[in-house]
Amino acid sequence: MDKILNDLGQNVAIIGAQWGDEGKGKLVDSFSGHFDIVARFSGGANAGHTIVVDGKKYVFHILPSGLLHKGTIGVIGNGTVVDLLDMAKELDDLKDSGLADIDSRVKISLRAHVLLDYHKKIDNELERRKGDKKIGTTGRGIGPAYADKAARRGIRCEDLLDEELFVEKIRENCALHAKLYDLDLDPEEEIAKLLKIKDRIKPLLCDTRKFLYEEIKKGKKVLFEGAQAHQLDLDHGTYPFVTSSPVSTGGICTGLGVAPRNISGVIGIAKAYCTRVGSGPFPTEIGGDQEEDLRQRGHEFGATTGRPRRCGWFDAVAVRNSVETAGMDMINLTKLDVLSGFGEIKVATKYILDGKEIFSVPTTRKAMRKLEVEYQTFPGWDEDISNAKSFDDLPENARNYVLAVEKLIDCPIRAIGIGVERTAILFR
Ligand code: GDP
Ligand code: IMO
Ligand code: MG
Repeated sequence: MDKILNDLGQNVAIIGAQWGDEGKGKLVDSFSGHFDIVARFSGGANAGHTIVVDGKKYVFHILPSGLLHKGTIGVIGNGTVVDLLDMAKELDDLKDSGLADIDSRVKISLRAHVLLDYHKKIDNELERRKGDKKIGTTGRGIGPAYADKAARRGIRCEDLLDEELFVEKIRENCALHAKLYDLDLDPEEEIAKLLKIKDRIKPLLCDTRKFLYEEIKKGKKVLFEGAQAHQLDLDHGTYPFVTSSPVSTGGICTGLGVAPRNISGVIGIAKAYCTRVGSGPFPTEIGGDQEEDLRQRGHEFGATTGRPRRCGWFDAVAVRNSVETAGMDMINLTKLDVLSGFGEIKVATKYILDGKEIFSVPTTRKAMRKLEVEYQTFPGWDEDISNAKSFDDLPENARNYVLAVEKLIDCPIRAIGIGVERTAILFR
């Protein structure tokens, strides 16, 4: 691990290379002991990052996943949308787990936008109205909160410093949305709850851009914790079946105010197969009993919504696209242990569109619908690999699988996940 950390440099990004839930939280947690600060730059509580330490499970939604390490500072950047009530609950849960000083280790950007209950109501109502054309959002109000931000009527954390203005803005926005969406929205109960916790939140607010700039200048190390994944990025994902913020490497610069030169390394996280929750194109989706078998073996149920995740074969075309655009220096291939005993394993090596071979994800929905996928089949392995101590300990077929994937995505696989525990990673 030391050699890898050394190669990646001072400030490292962890970015999902597929459609989310690749195991970003686990690597963030496992690396956090070597970093001073862990910073979230995009999304909100649509993220669900699972960490398992000595059999105990923690799920982080808006708080950075590195906070289990005593002394780590967690930053929630300006690019996020924060449900302050849910965040306070997440803080309480961590406090109950023994992290008594947790509040003093969290910094929230004054520029971060506040996500309110009406955003969730609108999110769910719009999905309901779309019927079978729905995006399959997490229902956490993400799209409507970013829509308010882009329309320049969003409520920012800074507004909490002026109670009268804060309340007035919430009431105004609520009235506007009630009319726009023909919904019954009454913010008074939520306003009362927010005012109750405001004195707890205020000390956590600061100019996180300035804080990060100064800490980085002093030589402090920062881990940038990606949420969602490159294929769900608002611009680079499979639009419109995407989330509503820039979640790939570029989002670090906008979502934290960090200069590109201060991102010294990028790690892409990809499962040894592929999953997706919600609707949208999924070229390698397996279907039938085999998909259900993989779902059960991999416990593929959402950490945020509990929904069954759609399961597919590893898609080397999509991951290579993420590697190229996000500038991934290495990949952490996760959940290789899940493929033990699964029989033959397939990998998508190229797409075929109108009879032509293509090696990148098409940009139009029409093309995505017509896409055919070409696979290479690999022999599987039966051995339980969860106790392997090094890459060389793995069965030959597992090693060959990793080496073949590495070649197809044109990026070194330097970390391999073989279990849920923070220590269940092989480095090479
Ligand atoms: P994230 O959103 O990218 O942080 O990922 P999630 O936490 O939503 O989903 C990943 C799931 O896989 C979690 O339940 C993790 O505990 C689990 N996980 C992560 N890495 C591994 C691994 O290498 N092997 C196994 N078996 N499970 C893993
Ligand atoms: P982590 O960080 C998997 C998906 C939703 C939906 C689309 C839009 O745990 O990997 P949204 O609620 O953001 O408007 O939903 O994006 N989605 C995720 N899928 N993991 C996530 O986060 C996700 N966050 C959003 O399922 O398809
Ligand atoms: Mg997740």
